[in-house]
Amino acid sequence: MKFFLDSAKLDEIKFAMDAIGIEGVTTNPKHVKVTGKTFHEIIREFVDEFDGMPFPISVEINPHLSSSEEMEDAASKIAALSDNFCIKIPCTEQGLLAAKNLVESGIKVNLTLVFSASQALQGGRIGCTYVSPFIGWQESSGVRISRFINDIIMIYDNYMFNTEIIVAAVRDGRQIVEAATMGADIVTAGLPVYMKSFFHPFTNEGLKIFQDAWDETEIGKWE
Ligand code: E4P
Repeated sequence: MKFFLDSAKLDEIKFAMDAIGIEGVTTNPKHVKVTGKTFHEIIREFVDEFDGMPFPISVEINPHLSSSEEMEDAASKIAALSDNFCIKIPCTEQGLLAAKNLVESGIKVNLTLVFSASQALQGGRIGCTYVSPFIGWQESSGVRISRFINDIIMIYDNYMFNTEIIVAAVRDGRQIVEAATMGADIVTAGLPVYMKSFFHPFTNEGLKIFQDAWDETEIGKWE
């Protein structure tokens, strides 16, 4: 399963590439907002830093755009700046129309704000590069996320869709594991979620036990 970072902070992304080996980025207007920069400044940074590298970056265009024409126009302008960009399009009626037209004109689409397997089915049918089921939001509203992810995987397997599933809005290591046990292609999460998922208190307790044992057998033996 590939790990993407959900962030717009360049320093955080670079750190996660080195420390975790993340294979791509997803971002949204909330992440841009916390950088204190504008959307276009962030886009410029991404082009300067990653253009030419095999490093997919899903970016969300202005979420106020309501017609498919407006979405297609904005998406085409961003996609023209770098091959890295995959455009996040919301799974609304106009969004699906825009997504279909964008895919047909060769622009990579990440169908976002996906909350049902039937939305994901349509994303696969129209040839989106990615679909993003938001599992954290689903689980907090009582949905069984393993079933949700598994339904999408089964549908994609049945029809051999090439669309990759980005399990998104991930809150903790358990949800990462749910995505991995179901066989999702990609998970996207914030840096603290990944970092916390790699550590367990028993690891530190075990290390202390081994350090003590080492000290009892080794200290003084070589003096
Ligand atoms: C994914 O592509 C989204 O950016 C992200 O996961 C949104 O969800 P959150 O902000 O609730 O985590």
